[in-house]
Amino acid sequence: MTATTFAPFSRAQLRHVDNSALALARGDNGIPHPLFHAAELAHAKEKIEAWPGYQPSTLRSLASLAAELNVGHILYKDEGERFSLGSFKALGGAYAVSELALNGADEIEQITVTTATDGNHGLSVAWGAKNHGMQAVIYIHAEVSQGREQALLNLGAEVIRVEGNYDESVRICYEAAKKNGWHIISDTTSGDAGHDVARKVMTGYSVMVTEIVAQITDELPTHVFVQGGVGGLAATVCEYFRIAYGDRAPKFIVVEPELAPCLYLSAEAEQAIAVDVVEETVMAGLSCGEVSSVAWPVLFHYANDFLTIPDALVAPTMKILANPFGGDDPIVAGESAVAGLAGFIAATQCDELKRTLNLESNSRVLVIGTEGATDPALYQSLTGLSAHAVRKTKTDRDLS
Ligand SMILES: Cc1ncc(COP(=O)(O)O)c(C=O)c1O
Repeated sequence: MTATTFAPFSRAQLRHVDNSALALARGDNGIPHPLFHAAELAHAKEKIEAWPGYQPSTLRSLASLAAELNVGHILYKDEGERFSLGSFKALGGAYAVSELALNGADEIEQITVTTATDGNHGLSVAWGAKNHGMQAVIYIHAEVSQGREQALLNLGAEVIRVEGNYDESVRICYEAAKKNGWHIISDTTSGDAGHDVARKVMTGYSVMVTEIVAQITDELPTHVFVQGGVGGLAATVCEYFRIAYGDRAPKFIVVEPELAPCLYLSAEAEQAIAVDVVEETVMAGLSCGEVSSVAWPVLFHYANDFLTIPDALVAPTMKILANPFGGDDPIVAGESAVAGLAGFIAATQCDELKRTLNLESNSRVLVIGTEGATDPALYQSLTGLSAHAVRKTKTDRDLS
């Protein structure tokens, strides 16, 4: 690491909406109903903890990076080894599938589940279907990489590639499901449809936040930077922390690619609006033009800030994690995993934003590394390193 490591972050053009200020101006007192009920959270925890191979993912401390950036602490929830799938998404789609298996009226092997995906959510659904002996038909869009397609095929799913972007694949998937009587296991909503399933998927994600709350044994974070696609992850974390910590909940900052800023633009417009994604961001999991209508009310009322970042920050952030400062653990993090951390680093390099976000030398920042090298070829091309080599460096360090 050199003095120029943070240069791309200082140069980055960020867009920022202070949602707390907007909420104050509109006299927003929050939403009356919580997103999750305690019994549902407990049920998801019990079920997912019983899945073979379950273990909490690691909450890492990046003390050397924190010192470089002059903040008190950086915590990194590392989802790169979540089950065999390498992303937090393993908790969501597969949980909704397992609930269908539990409650479904049909014979299990007669059930076909379907979803549109840019990779990770589809893997979760296909994995859940395989574990329960169901069929899975997964829709991917034109830009989804060959590697991600192959991973879906490896789980026995039928994979259908469609023209157009993610939002188009969601539309085609819904049409096919209606025609064929398939069960849609979507991580988002389409118009008024899919609310219950999307909420189930998010209930699955909550298990990751339960782990974080258990893993934070000393002072609470002051800031959470979480990346957004349709907003399901961000809303889950935001809502859960509100339940767990009440008035002590950290400042919550949603980070998105500037090429797919549907949450940011919705915050700016003070209502959910759709964005046409014309150019694909390298952060494939965040390339969404329409917010989830389950997630949106939570973020609208409770997220403090919305931030967009350019794609140019992705590779530098992945490299900082792969080849870290001082004694920090080398971490394999995929393109969509690093958006929150990239947004945070960029904010530390901009005096005005740093002040607005109250980032100070005693700040304790939590980020969620939502995936590992889910596309190993892309990982190597962006970092110049193989995921295997980074893991080996870590193992060698642990042993020495
Ligand atoms: C690795 C990764 N991180 C973050 C997200 C964003 O989640 P959401 O779409 O719920 O906002 C995704 C979505 O696919 C993802 O794959």
